Amino acid sequence: MSNPIFADNILEGKVAFVTGGGTGITGGVAKAFAEHGAKLAITSRKIENLESMKAMIESFGGECFAVAADVRDYDGIENAIKQAADKFGKIDIVVNGAAGNFLCAADQLSSNGFGTVVDIDTKGTFNVCRAAFEELKKSQGQILNISATLHYLATPMQIHVSAAKAGVDAITRNLSVEWGRHGIRVNGIAPGPIEDTEGMKRLLPEPLKEKITKKIPVGRFGRIKDIENAALFLTSDAASYINGVTLVVDGGQWLLGTSLG
Ligand code: COA
Repeated sequence: MSNPIFADNILEGKVAFVTGGGTGITGGVAKAFAEHGAKLAITSRKIENLESMKAMIESFGGECFAVAADVRDYDGIENAIKQAADKFGKIDIVVNGAAGNFLCAADQLSSNGFGTVVDIDTKGTFNVCRAAFEELKKSQGQILNISATLHYLATPMQIHVSAAKAGVDAITRNLSVEWGRHGIRVNGIAPGPIEDTEGMKRLLPEPLKEKITKKIPVGRFGRIKDIENAALFLTSDAASYINGVTLVVDGGQWLLGTSLG
């Protein structure tokens, strides 16, 4: 069921290409876009991670094209974007949600471990933006990059993700300036702690969750729905003059410096 806060047809006629669109936060964003009229191309490293989202979107009459690609592989991503554009005739919205994460202390992390997360999050975001540029220029489209708030202060056990997401925020700002003149808006969302994701269940022990809840200004963890709402707003015409912004959706959590590490 579509979210009654937004009109059902807010993204009618749009085509969205969403990386990491099978599960978690970006899966929610993909579903919300489809519920509000967009045709979806979703991608992930493994096609089996996309099957249930594709089935869910199709169950309410939405259109979904699932294609396996690793954001680290430029040729693979270029090919996935071409397939999506061939299928739907265009691409209006690109969401960069594919990410890698694990907890590891800096003095235990290997160079390859650090580089792997930077490759997925930062270089992967660049790869997808770059490969989609011509399509987005044609459609006067837009990009939405999912980052985090980890790097605003410092988050122990997350040096690799913090560095990677700082890079994603830099990409958002740079491309908004360079590609704004081509009619492409580039924005981001920085989710705070979102409780109903696999990552959070895996990364955050229950006692720590309770402690952190008390320190979140609005008194609760975020939900995938909160990010869906922000994504619908930023990609809709309501945000047509918003460019180069990374919208923090965290209930004010980072301002209190409540480390998740
Ligand atoms: N702790 C420390 N280092 C880790 C690690 C962990 N939990 N997981 C991976 N690494 C390191 C590996 O040791 C390797 O470095 P090395 O060659 O020096 O040993 C490097 O990262 C690459 O690991 P590998 O598993 O070969 O990479 P991959 O490309 O197959 O997968 C991830 C990388 C990040 C996607 C993988 O760790 C993963 O599946 N994470 C969980 C899923 C996930 O991140 N989902 C997104 C939630 S936001």
